[in-house]
Amino acid sequence: MNTAVGTDLTEAKRFLDQNDLVGIPTETVYGLAGNGLEPESIVRIFLAKNRPFFDPLILHFGSLEQVADQIKDIPEVLLNLAKFFWPGPLTLLVPKPAHIPDLITSGQPNVAIRVPSHPLALALLQMLDYPLAAPSANPFGYISPTTAAHVKSQLEGKLPYILDGGPCEVGLESTVVGLEKDELVIYRKGGLPIELISNRLYTNTRIRVLENSSSNPKSPGQLQSHYSPLKTMKLLESEKELPKQEYRDIKTGVLWFGSLSGIQEGVYAKVLNLSEKADLIEAAKNLFDYLRLLDNDPNVKQIIALSVPEVGLGLAINDRLRRASA
Ligand code: TXA
Ligand code: MG
Repeated sequence: MNTAVGTDLTEAKRFLDQNDLVGIPTETVYGLAGNGLEPESIVRIFLAKNRPFFDPLILHFGSLEQVADQIKDIPEVLLNLAKFFWPGPLTLLVPKPAHIPDLITSGQPNVAIRVPSHPLALALLQMLDYPLAAPSANPFGYISPTTAAHVKSQLEGKLPYILDGGPCEVGLESTVVGLEKDELVIYRKGGLPIELISNRLYTNTRIRVLENSSSNPKSPGQLQSHYSPLKTMKLLESEKELPKQEYRDIKTGVLWFGSLSGIQEGVYAKVLNLSEKADLIEAAKNLFDYLRLLDNDPNVKQIIALSVPEVGLGLAINDRLRRASA
């Protein structure tokens, strides 16, 4: 099978209607999409990604109205967030209605849902009478794709079509949120900063952020090693660690953040700066692309990355960097 890349929504719909997979742009990362109500498409997604069947998928909808057609009881606290943040990088765990295949949730009682904000994805979703199951369009465990070319390079031949919506605006996966008793639980830090969510909660709702667990994780995006380049990667907590001899190597690629004044020229194979002006939004957008560039650079044998400030999107960026270097 050849993998075509284009912007033809009718073509994308034609493939999806026959249970084939299509790469779709979203504001966070590219998704590997299939009909979320058809076990045949869902199985194809797991196989194409080499994803273990215990890792559940997110269902994507074109609007809150489309969600309401399929899912009746969304807890009030979550509905309130949906109304404010959708379309956007927020995924909600809600009770799964019986007609949604158990394959989607890996047998768990909740299903993950979101309305993405990319115009092309929304236009496609609104043409369909079923939601799209879509994990990030990368082989399981590898760096998530933020351009159509990333998807093509890794999944060529495994899907007939990729919708090209340009580079992703946010660059980090959605923030995954659920309710346990009356507490709001963050299962995955992501493109919607936690501070923005907590500002929108009713004052009596408490919020708990789950850190990673590697055994029987409720949300496998929380696996300790994930989003990983193939080369050895090491995360520095501070730029003071950089001058250490072991890092001063011409075969080292550096993923930097902020002013470059601390970096000596000519010492490293390659230096990529997530954001020279230390802007976390810009850094998030560049993160996966730059990791991939270093991983694919034949002159780079090992990667070192610098942590970013632990605020706003910085929490999710550091989370990905930690997992990538685990
Ligand atoms: O931004 C995103 O969320 C992207 C785009 C394509 O929408 N999708 C994405 O999907 O990142 P994926 O499959 O790579 O990550 C989904 C995360 C995983 O960590 C998964 O374990 C968790 O959501 N998840 C999905 N359904 C769940 C469920 N029923 N219970 C707990 N966690 C769930
Ligand atoms: Mg993923």
